[in-house]
This record gives sequence, C-alpha cells and structure tokens, in this order.
Amino acid sequence: MKILYVSSEVAPFIKTGGLADVAGSLPNAIGKPSQDVRVVLPLYSLIKDKYITDIKFEKYYFVDLGWRRQYVGVFSLKKGNVTYYFLDNEYYFKRSNIYGEYDDGERFIYFQKAVVCLLKEINFKAHIVHCNDWHTGLIPLYIKDFAKGDNFYSDMKSVYTIHNIKYQGIFPDFILWEIGGLSGEYANYDGLRHSHDTINFMKAGIVYSDAFTTVSKSYAQEIKTPEYSEGLDQCIKNHSYKLHGLVNGIDYEVFNPETDVNLKEYYNIDTIDKKTNNKLEIQRLYNLPVDEDIPMIAMITRLADLKGIDLVTYILEGLLQKENIQFVLLGTGEKKYEDSFKYFQSKYPNKLASRNYFDEGESHLLYAAADMLLMPSLAEPCGISQLIALRYGTIPIVRETGGLKDTIEPYNIMTNEGNGFGFRNKDAGELLDAIKKALNMIKDEEKWNTIMKSAMNSKNDWQKSSEEYLKLYEGLRL
Ligand code: GLC
Repeated sequence: MKILYVSSEVAPFIKTGGLADVAGSLPNAIGKPSQDVRVVLPLYSLIKDKYITDIKFEKYYFVDLGWRRQYVGVFSLKKGNVTYYFLDNEYYFKRSNIYGEYDDGERFIYFQKAVVCLLKEINFKAHIVHCNDWHTGLIPLYIKDFAKGDNFYSDMKSVYTIHNIKYQGIFPDFILWEIGGLSGEYANYDGLRHSHDTINFMKAGIVYSDAFTTVSKSYAQEIKTPEYSEGLDQCIKNHSYKLHGLVNGIDYEVFNPETDVNLKEYYNIDTIDKKTNNKLEIQRLYNLPVDEDIPMIAMITRLADLKGIDLVTYILEGLLQKENIQFVLLGTGEKKYEDSFKYFQSKYPNKLASRNYFDEGESHLLYAAADMLLMPSLAEPCGISQLIALRYGTIPIVRETGGLKDTIEPYNIMTNEGNGFGFRNKDAGELLDAIKKALNMIKDEEKWNTIMKSAMNSKNDWQKSSEEYLKLYEGLRL
C-alpha cells in the first residue's frame, strides 16, 4: 500500500509537542517491506543542520495561491522504512517560529496545497493520505476537490487524526477562496464554516476525510461532549460513524533503559536497583541533597493550564512542607507557572528544582531518575510522558482522563495489580490523596518493586496500533 503521512512537525527534525513524536515513529512502524510509506513536512529554517545534511534535491514546481504563484522545492531523505519529503519555500518557512506567525493561515494553505500537488509531481498515487491536526485539515478537502477534475486523485482516501482539539486553525473565511482557490460553497456550517466570517481547518479535516481518528479510545468518546470538544461536539457527533480511537505508542528503541545513552546507568527489569544511580545523578545536577532514599516526583511537561498545573501549584506548599520528597520540574510555558515554580524553588531549595527549558537528552535521564511522574492533565488526548515513564519503571500519577485513563491502571491494593496511581475529578484534594497513596506505597520496598515491574511490563510500543492503522487503511480501500 502507498501511504503519505503529513505532519507540520516530525521528530527528530522539528518538535514542539507530542505530535512530532507520533509523526516521527508511527510511519516507521507502519512502513514494513510491503508498505511504501512517505512523510512530508515543511523545510523550516529552524530544522538543525545535523538532521538534514544528507537531504537530496528532487525537483521544484509552483502552486497557485490566488493571484500568486509560489515556489515549492522538494528535498528527500530515506531513513529506516520511510522516505521523508521536505518542502522548501523560504518566504513561508524561514521564520523564527514554526507557528504563531501573522500569516499562519496563508502559510499552511500553501503547505497543504503544495502537499496535494506533490503527489502528482512525484507521481506517488497514494492509496491513503494521513493528515494530522489543524495544519493539514484542508488536505482531505483538496483531495476531494481536485478529484472532480483530475482522476489521479479519484481513488485517494484520506485519514485525519486529531492530536489536540484545542488548536483548530480558525482564520478569516476569505482566505479559502482568495488564497486557497477553493469554492466558497465549502464554507457553510455543514462544511468548514466556524462563524459568520471565519473558517475552521480542523472542521474540514473532520467533515471531508474518509475516516478521522484520535489518539485514544476514551478521548474519542470525550470529544463528543461539550466539556472536551472545544466547541466541535456537534460536528464530531454528526461524523462519529467514521471516528476511531487508536492509542499512541512510543519507539521502544529510542526509549530503552538498557541502551539509552542519556542515562548515567543502564538497567532493565531484572536490574531495576541500578535505576537509583540515575536519581543520584539528577540530584547532583540539580543541586538537591544526594540521597537515594528520598522519593523523587517529576513533572516533564509544557506549563499550560490544560496540563493541570493549577492543581499542582495549589497543593505544592503543603506537600513540600510536610513530606520528605524531592520535586523536579522540567519544561517551559506560561510565565505565571514558571514564576510559581521559581517561588517554590527559592522557598524550598532542598526539595524542589525547577528547570524551565526543554532538553530531550536530559528528559530521558529524568524519566529514569524519578520514582514517580505526575500528570494531572485536565484533558489528555493520549499523553506520551506516562508511556515513557512506564518504560523506565517510573510510576505515573495521573488524572483518569483520555489516554491516561486508557494506559494507566490504578494500583489495586487487594490484587496487587496496576501500573500507576490515579484520581478522577479536577480536584486538588484528590490529586493530593493520590500522591500520598504513592508516597505511602514506596515505603514498602517489596510492593513498590511489584508496581515498578508491572510498569516496565506494560506494552506501549507501536506494534498493536500500527496494525490497527493498517487495518483502518485497508478498510477504506475496499
Ligand atoms: C498532543 C496531545 C497528547 C498526545 C500527542 C500525540 O500533544 O496533547 O495527549 O499524546 O498530541 O498524539
């Protein structure tokens, strides 16, 4: 089968969030010898040279954007089971940010139209074009629209995946016809109209795709409700006959405590006690008291309200005052949250370290170092951090929502089963109780070992989900 996977970010080339991790690992898992899988993304100037020294120039062409003709340079790179295409246009992608520019609507219309034209330019008659998040929502529409006049596109099916429903790509409606060259007829409320003068790219992905998916079963249910849908519940319900929830995996070669070069000491399920040396290393690195017996709780997260940061800052004072713990934060985000963690760090320098940056290698060491990982998200389509934590025998404490609910089984004291701790409501008291339960449990070495082992035995690689994606693709071709 021929598959084109389209994403605005793909790890390791360029990453702002979990989308990049998925786009950087799922296509490779799908790309077995019998499948021809290719991935396309913009050639941002922000991509570090070391990743693209070997890219090869393929060709160039132009796309019509309203009255303008814009250049598209095509570069390629073969890596693992996948061919990557990078679309080059300095006017749109030589910027200091990948999103948040004044002309994002135009930039991503350019990208989407260029992708659909790419298929023909390189004569890749894809069976499936798999699109992701708002930056690619128009592609299913373009494919259907192009197919009206060009049978190259007529058998092509599209799949659209929602990773983050909060960002929908809402822009003034006139860009659809003035820049995108699409008929205004698509801009009705059953189509991609958002308000009387705006359109919504994500809505286009939902409406015009042949199937749409999200990244866990629970989240696929949640987005049908106003609480989680960010206004799209009616549209999602109208199209729910083609909605699927397929949980994310992680790349077990990249995240592997036996071989991860970022660790101070390697370990596996049989040598789990060596994990401690990673904790000692983080303590030294972050100027915390070096003591293997102090439980370490980590958060590795963007500092955004959706991640439940308010619940944490609400209980932090009491927690730090009363408990003998170390709390480590790695991540950047909203200033008010960075300030609040900085405040706790200055008040409790022996107990809290706040690192407001993101460093991939350091995050791996921290996953291996911590005893527990906190993820009290208000909403979580899938979540990747908890999957990484499990792999490193670090016990997730999560709010039971979306993918967190689907991947973490709260520890059951009666049966001795479970791989984490959970709480249900958006309630700081419940979060505190869950943390206390975990802190209680870690005092019992034998019990804690059991739970660490069941964490490490959880299976969250791409095997099962990549097969489900292939099944979904096959189903659409029938
Ligand atoms: C988004 C979601 C996260 C998910 C990731 C990859 O970042 O917030 O829950 O794991 O996309 O699908």
